Amino acid sequence: MSVLITNIGELVTNRPEPGGPGGREGGFAAVARAALVIDEGRVAWTGPASRAPAADQAVDAGGRAVLPGFVDSHAHLVFAGERGAEFAARMAGQPYRAGGIRSTVAATRAASDDQLRANLRKLAAEMLAQGITTFECKSGYGLTVADEARSVALAAEVTPEVTYLGAHVVPAEYEADPAGYVDLVCGPMLEACAPRARWVDVFCERGAFGRDEAAAVLAAGQGAGLRARVHANQLGPGPGVQLAVQAGAASADHCTHLDDADVAALAASDTVATLLPGVEFSTRQPYPDARRLIDAGATVALATDCNPGSCFTSSMALCIALAVREMHMTTQEAVWAATAGGARALRRDDVGHLGVGARADLVMLEAPSHAYLAYRPGVPLVAGFWLAGEGVIGGEQVTGLQE
Ligand code: NIG
Ligand code: FE
Repeated sequence: MSVLITNIGELVTNRPEPGGPGGREGGFAAVARAALVIDEGRVAWTGPASRAPAADQAVDAGGRAVLPGFVDSHAHLVFAGERGAEFAARMAGQPYRAGGIRSTVAATRAASDDQLRANLRKLAAEMLAQGITTFECKSGYGLTVADEARSVALAAEVTPEVTYLGAHVVPAEYEADPAGYVDLVCGPMLEACAPRARWVDVFCERGAFGRDEAAAVLAAGQGAGLRARVHANQLGPGPGVQLAVQAGAASADHCTHLDDADVAALAASDTVATLLPGVEFSTRQPYPDARRLIDAGATVALATDCNPGSCFTSSMALCIALAVREMHMTTQEAVWAATAGGARALRRDDVGHLGVGARADLVMLEAPSHAYLAYRPGVPLVAGFWLAGEGVIGGEQVTGLQE
């Protein structure tokens, strides 16, 4: 059954093409007064509405914008509890501390599988309703072999992009023996988690893991068949970005405190710089310098980093608005980074763009253009979405001819 979506005010395709903002190959691309055909859950055709082919079913977009679904390449959704008081204290002047993670670890360990599953599914549904059609999900609030293994197993119920983050922080019971904890992360914990994970991540930061420890975690993960990504240079300058590039990581995430060598290393590599502006918003820190990265030629992604501590938002629209207003990205660069950039950071070529053959993951805005995501900050603009060709508009399944 093929579906024609017609009368699209602006269709953002991100079709791979040389040049354009946001990446070295392929950039933002859009068609005005456009149409798109979905067949078997894939994009079968895009172009001007006046030239659209016939299909079994038609949906009138009413002049609204249609974009590739957002690709959120960084989220921590397996947890229990909340840290609203910590946020309030920060807004009253306290700094963000990596150590807050331990309070979520305690709550997560104490929760049942069903409690964790219910919270995870609620957040995943919240993301989808806001246009995130692909998301990565990390473990990292269990920090025992059993609790990390169940975190990874729960994440695998909702996404194929599962990341093993046993090296989030050293848990309290290993305070006096951090090397012993790294051995656990690289040994039995990895063995228990690797079968259900695709990625290995490490929080390389003062107060978490140093360069050598982080390198050992990534090497062990890669030895078990996982691909690397790194929490790097979030709270201060450090070795995280260089380590990520040297390890061939798909992404260095945060990138808030970079020196010239870090920027040059990212620009000369395939490692995506994933920026998480919701974190700087929620921790009242300076935003990362997106312009410096883009102008140097680095590939930039935007992600939510949805987690109960440093940033409890599931809104990619907010991240786009912050990137545009606070980080001087153009609206095109920000939308590219939240779609195609996220896909690069997950090494996916089937999502983040609407080229023929891509997964038909789409988001339809209650707006005529992508720019409204930043132009109307805080307004819920997602009118509907398609997930592998299955449409939901206004909360209703798209089943028949829509006028
Ligand atoms: O990406 N930086 C490390 N991990 C999370 C924070 C997690 C937390 O504070 O609970 C982050 O910001
Ligand atoms: Fe994170």
